[in-house]
Amino acid sequence: MTGFFARLGTHVLGRKVYYKKTTASTNDDAMEGRYGDLFVADAQSAGRGRLDHKWFSPPGLNLYCSLVLDVSGLEPETVSTLPLVAGLAAAETADCFYGGVSLVKWPNDVLAEGMKICGILCRLSGTLATAGIGINVNETQFPEELSGRASSLRLLAGAEIDRWAVLAELMNNFEARYEEWKSAGFAPLAAELSKRDFLKGAQVSVLRSDSDPNPAAGLCGGIAANGALIVDGKEIFSGEAHVQIHSAHCI
Ligand code: BTN
Repeated sequence: MTGFFARLGTHVLGRKVYYKKTTASTNDDAMEGRYGDLFVADAQSAGRGRLDHKWFSPPGLNLYCSLVLDVSGLEPETVSTLPLVAGLAAAETADCFYGGVSLVKWPNDVLAEGMKICGILCRLSGTLATAGIGINVNETQFPEELSGRASSLRLLAGAEIDRWAVLAELMNNFEARYEEWKSAGFAPLAAELSKRDFLKGAQVSVLRSDSDPNPAAGLCGGIAANGALIVDGKEIFSGEAHVQIHSAHCI
């Protein structure tokens, strides 16, 4: 065992770590987990994204991890904002490795310089939730369908990045945001997210499914204090947002 896996050890910042060289999906592995557990894999053979999309998960390059969280005591509306909490922590993490400002694209993507560098897939089971986080760390060649849309920390930084350092930074940032979320709810984090909101001010369309014949469309007013996306003054609680016309971001 070398490099990333050797450095993982059995615990990362107090979390018990379960790692596999290859797994189907760390989110599936996390279904067997207990509160606090962290599941990591070097590669995923069936990595999943939202709306049944596949998540590109080759070995040796990126970070694929799933955290088991306790969401007892939180209102269902608050629980549904977990992808944004994870997105904020992942954006803060990415910033540390390339020196830019990463943006969150509601509801679950992190973008840098307009390209996707991280995706988040959360799952709820009773009082436990899984936050699955994939970060493109050292990827330099993406499949054709992702080219021009995906990037990695390495491409942004112009140098190889230590995956262990990314995971440790992610756990630090996530822990802080998760504690804040559990004690004060989503609203304070919405204020933080508004500084990193990729969609705010853009003309967007929001699809409820891949083939939604009737997407909501209009000017995006950003992310509301309850986690909804505001489009033409109306709140949208789920879907996949696409930008039609973008405005410049200054944060
Ligand atoms: C998306 O952008 O659609 C979400 C992608 C989520 C990918 C991560 S990688 C770790 C975890 N395991 C999975 O199968 N998916 C998530």
